[in-house]
Amino acid sequence: MNLFDVYPLYNVTPVSAKGIKVIDDKGQEYLDFYGGHAVISIGHSHPHYVRRIKEQLDQISFYSNAIHNPLQGELAEKLVQQSNCNDYNLFLCNSGAEANENALKLASFHNNKSRVIAFKNGFHGRTSAAVAVTDNETINAPINKQQKVTFLEFNDIKSLTSEIEKGDVCAVILEAIQGVGGLDEPNTEYYQALDVLCKDNNVILIADEVQSGYGRTGKFFGFQHHNIKPDIITIAKGMGNGFPVGGVLIQEKIKASYGLLGTTFGGNHLACAASLAVLEVLEQEDLVRNATKMHSYFIKKAATIPQIKKVKGRGLMLGLQFDFEVGELRKKLIYNQYIFTGGAKDKTLLRILPALNITTAQIDLFFDALNAELS
Ligand SMILES: Cc1ncc(COP(=O)(O)O)c(C=O)c1O
Repeated sequence: MNLFDVYPLYNVTPVSAKGIKVIDDKGQEYLDFYGGHAVISIGHSHPHYVRRIKEQLDQISFYSNAIHNPLQGELAEKLVQQSNCNDYNLFLCNSGAEANENALKLASFHNNKSRVIAFKNGFHGRTSAAVAVTDNETINAPINKQQKVTFLEFNDIKSLTSEIEKGDVCAVILEAIQGVGGLDEPNTEYYQALDVLCKDNNVILIADEVQSGYGRTGKFFGFQHHNIKPDIITIAKGMGNGFPVGGVLIQEKIKASYGLLGTTFGGNHLACAASLAVLEVLEQEDLVRNATKMHSYFIKKAATIPQIKKVKGRGLMLGLQFDFEVGELRKKLIYNQYIFTGGAKDKTLLRILPALNITTAQIDLFFDALNAELS
């Protein structure tokens, strides 16, 4: 049987990884400035992470959500400590799309409405409602196009107000900073107007923190740069540092009932151990602060390269804007310089998403390599 051929592949076969380094089957070392789409938050195979998962594996790796699993409570507790989101409840699932799917469903259960407002260039995953609120025709099948979704531009408060005041909107979903779309975000005035409009009109505000959460932007959650309070927050990617896990933080006003949501694998013992290990390392190594520090250093280095027209993003969720398409540059960085980077919907943007414990010396290596390919 062949694999269903949906991924264009780079010709690299990693067999091991440590920290920011990935090693292929020929022994070639690569520097990972992309973290497999923003997943690697604490570095590959972090010793504490490996130990915690191994220890859990020796105890119990899985049982369904029909029994007590105290690790889930521990995880919720640690999440509150680090995020300061203390009047939310936690639902655990397995991926970012699944987190958003559950968030949208919950919003609709809560206010009994069904139209969703989402944003141009947004990405929320590939499942039913999550893909329907994703601004990409080509990944929406006819079955997904049945959902009622209105896509708006950022910072247009007038259009937002008129759509919400129609009365049929169940939720507004947005990425705190757009990832795949190209590192754009609304301004604080818009964020705050959105927050108030949602509250006044019984509309659930969903912050998709699947990519921007877990300290990546220099705060635990990206929306925390704007002093707003979403009703629902979705998480995944950096949460498990590669272990498939996702979650939904649900404000207490949204009530649970037995059977309302459910999953076989979500919140299993191994996923909780991986997620706890990530939070422990974020805390012990003060990595959210490091994301801010390394951002400043990165900006300074970028300013020395004239071909870089702009640096987008916050913390270590970064994009380098060029005035040419970066596809070839990414290939050169991989095959000549052995560095992984990312692309975006905006083809002129090079996405940089390293682990949050990256150092200035490693950032220097990146800019030396970039310089070599640009000059
Ligand atoms: C902002 C955002 N939301 C949701 C998703 C979907 O996550 P997953 O691929 O885990 O389903 C992604 C994935 O790239 C994402 O960037």
